[in-house]
Amino acid sequence: MLTDKTVTEHRHILVTSALPYANGPIHIGHMLEYIQTDIWSRFQRYQGNTCYYVCADDAHGTAIMLRAEQEGCSPEQLIAAIKAEHQQDFSDFGIAFDNYHSTHSEENRYYSEFIYKTCRSQGHIVSREITQAFDPQKQLFLADRFIKGTCPKCHTPDQYGDNCEACGATYTPAELIQPRSAISGATPISRNSSHFFFKLSNFTELLQQWIRAGHLQTEIANKLAEWLDAGLQEWDISRDAPYFGFAIPDAPNKFFYVWLDAPIGYMASFKNLCDRTPGLEFDQYWQADSQTELVHFIGKDIINFHGLFWPAMLSCAGFRTPTRVYAHGFLTVNGQKMSKSRGTFIKARTYLNYLNPEYLRYYFAARLSSKVDDLDLNLDDFAQRVNADLVGKVVNIASRCASFISRGYNGRLSASPPIPELLHCFSARQQTIADYYERREFSKVVREVMDLADLANQYIAEQEPWVLVRQVGQEQTVQDICSTGINLFRILMIYLKPIVPNMAADSEDFLQDSLQWQDLDQPLLNHVINPFKPLITRIDRKLIIAMQTEAKSELTKEQQLRG
Ligand code: 2FM
Ligand code: ZN
Repeated sequence: MLTDKTVTEHRHILVTSALPYANGPIHIGHMLEYIQTDIWSRFQRYQGNTCYYVCADDAHGTAIMLRAEQEGCSPEQLIAAIKAEHQQDFSDFGIAFDNYHSTHSEENRYYSEFIYKTCRSQGHIVSREITQAFDPQKQLFLADRFIKGTCPKCHTPDQYGDNCEACGATYTPAELIQPRSAISGATPISRNSSHFFFKLSNFTELLQQWIRAGHLQTEIANKLAEWLDAGLQEWDISRDAPYFGFAIPDAPNKFFYVWLDAPIGYMASFKNLCDRTPGLEFDQYWQADSQTELVHFIGKDIINFHGLFWPAMLSCAGFRTPTRVYAHGFLTVNGQKMSKSRGTFIKARTYLNYLNPEYLRYYFAARLSSKVDDLDLNLDDFAQRVNADLVGKVVNIASRCASFISRGYNGRLSASPPIPELLHCFSARQQTIADYYERREFSKVVREVMDLADLANQYIAEQEPWVLVRQVGQEQTVQDICSTGINLFRILMIYLKPIVPNMAADSEDFLQDSLQWQDLDQPLLNHVINPFKPLITRIDRKLIIAMQTEAKSELTKEQQLRG
């Protein structure tokens, strides 16, 4: 008989990362989130769970419309080109999406209209007139960030409509001295327009419970609780034409605000996957009483959307709410915000032009925890860490042992390893390491694995196979020592596989073994391996400098274009 435990052991998980805007390139700050999510999803599949990882481009909004205009193409053409670039970047970083879609899709239109109409029919949408800044030349309503002017506090010119970068003051665009449209330069005028609002405060009670029901990190729940306690505002979900987005049903010239349909893009991407995957049921994952898990990885800047609006909209429309929302901090480079002039605003493509993506996957893993803290990519530490750990510790084990096995024994490992205790000590860490992966404590996974790598290197150094190999009658001992070393290396690579999948795939070729978690307790015995090839090479610091030089030269190009 199947016990409850057996039934619940196999998990069905739908995982997402935040949808990147289709108006610009992916940079290494984005990659932090995609790498974190990818490691976690790979780990889930590796444990035998069913796990789908979906994403999409966030394709709507004024910025995308304006950029298309600037480039002399349609928004559809722009978003198609950007989507192709994004997908190539992700694929080259080994991000294993099950589906990558777009919010500008029929599935997304369907679910956006459905959710909107359901909320409307239940009385959660109201309409009222608001007054907004309007660009008379461009005939366009202006969001705060499209208005510039002189700071009313410190009088620094050229500041955005909501805050001053020089003195940190916050204000309304109406307070700016000599305001102008950042698009046309015209002086904005005030104009009225009717907008649709989602009455988020109708969901206060539901959200108060939801944020304390184990779906969020404590610090995020506390932050949301502050907002809830302060009283929830109505949320403006409409924008006036011209706008690149979905038309609001029964409301001529009104469009859904990009943030209304963005999270619905998670559903749309999954629906698109279901439609071409026999047996995969949309409802199984999205119905209100779903037994599956819905897990969102996001940055800490968008917790209001995922922790308030999104669960409210979903529950109102009769869908399930997220099982977990995992927020991470921002990426800094060399201790500071990424900066184009310092060459630390590094696009994914610029990185890939110089460096192996697995270096960054490893480094991020080595620094990531379940916390919301910011993470610093210190480029010196990055090189030092990757070289010392992956090359100096892990690959070193294989390279020290493999040549003896290849040369002396035709690549064949011993039939029985001499010290099963050491192998046992390595495989006995599996539960601890699995728990760390599950809890997103990837830095602890890495620390465990590197501690084991130290033990393996220490063992080989003590045994000195290179000395024994010159002594008569020690053939079996040398084969045993090196076979143990290779098996220790294999266990480490099984542990590291979700973090460095390419290095794991090359190790699989080398070991002629498929590096499965379930096989941790079964060492390779009397088994033939391939000759050793370097599995990952040292980071050449010159390449880091070259990458930064390219990042800076992109800035110069942009300045010339704007010039
Ligand atoms: O902040 C952003 O980059 C948004 N494009 C994220 C959207 S996530 C989801 F809600 F779609
Ligand atoms: Zn100021």
